[in-house]
Amino acid sequence: MRRIDLAVVPGDGIGKEVVPAAVKVLDVLADVHGGITFNYEYFPWGCEYYLKHGVMMPNHGMLQLQQKDAIFLGAVGYPKYVPDHVSLWGLLIKIRRECEQVINLRPAKALKGVSSPLKNPQDFDFIVVRENSEGEYSEVGGRIHQGNDEIAVQNAVFTRKATERTIRYAFDLAQDRRRHLTSATKSNGIVHSMPFWDEVFEEVSADYPEIQAESQHIDALSAYLVTRPETLDVVVGSNLFGDVLTDIGGAIMGSIGIGPAANINLNGQYPSMFEPVHGSAPDIYGKGIANPIGQLWTASMMLDHFGYNTLGELLLTTIENTLAQGIKTPDLGGKATMDDVVTQVIKEIKSVQ
Ligand code: NAI
Ligand code: MG
Repeated sequence: MRRIDLAVVPGDGIGKEVVPAAVKVLDVLADVHGGITFNYEYFPWGCEYYLKHGVMMPNHGMLQLQQKDAIFLGAVGYPKYVPDHVSLWGLLIKIRRECEQVINLRPAKALKGVSSPLKNPQDFDFIVVRENSEGEYSEVGGRIHQGNDEIAVQNAVFTRKATERTIRYAFDLAQDRRRHLTSATKSNGIVHSMPFWDEVFEEVSADYPEIQAESQHIDALSAYLVTRPETLDVVVGSNLFGDVLTDIGGAIMGSIGIGPAANINLNGQYPSMFEPVHGSAPDIYGKGIANPIGQLWTASMMLDHFGYNTLGELLLTTIENTLAQGIKTPDLGGKATMDDVVTQVIKEIKSVQ
């Protein structure tokens, strides 16, 4: 029996609803498999913790997380009482950085039973590989001369190490999928970092002759995500480009409540983290109508990550079957509660075993 130690950080708002729901499903999947068990340690960190203790997580907290096999996180934020930059940088971004989760993965897929805002959505299924440690999101820069003469400088930082490992990761991923990789660039407008990015992309592509590799400018590519998403397989981009593209991915899927994300540690020294794309949704917290699918889908990515791809796929299929039967939360136009969706997913899992 393999034991997988998970740090569970429900966080704030609906994170406290969808995380326990997904844990219930994980336990059912472990039963179905028979050879694994999940061991959970809960960490009650987030904005309530901040209001009591003045920090989003305790000082020794990172060490506790770093000893786990993975981190399963809900959402962070309680904007009425804690400014978002404090809550996000104090917990979520802190974990991403200190656990060296250098790659962010976000799939987007047309799910059966979910209507996309696109008029004629084809069967799209792509995944964005986003550089998660540097690029445009660097703290290098500053502001001087407040007032009319003010100057703000924000430096984007692109290292060969991070650029190459991100691109290589994307090629490897493409190899296991439909063997098509699109790189997001903007080398016509950004004259140093983007030609550099393109050069590294060219270089690495030489090692993967079987993969169809192409570069697209980020503006055109953003439009393609709307006009022909079905032509994309794996997309790789810098931190900013990846961030922007994945919101479009979420939008065309039909609800922010669906999208999952994985923050991957590549050096094996620290755990990876799995979380939904959505935030803490304070507007619906406590109503029992949060869509659990983003959290369930990221649980499926976590299963893939640990090599249990069959279980991961089983979970994704049962999610689709549940939606296809019209058991959907109000954000998807349905009338179901979160519990209705989870109950059906569990029923589906048990019925196919
Ligand atoms: P949000 O994603 O929490 O909510 C946006 C809209 O989508 C709301 O109308 C909400 O009700 C709906 N929604 C989100 N998830 C849903 C779900 N699972 N089921 C049904 N409806 C869902 O984004 P918002 O309102 O901009 O931010 C709220 C708080 O969450 C802020 O404090 C923000 O900083 C934080 N946040 C945290 C993130 C994270 O932890 N990864 C990501 C995005 C926002
Ligand atoms: Mg974003």
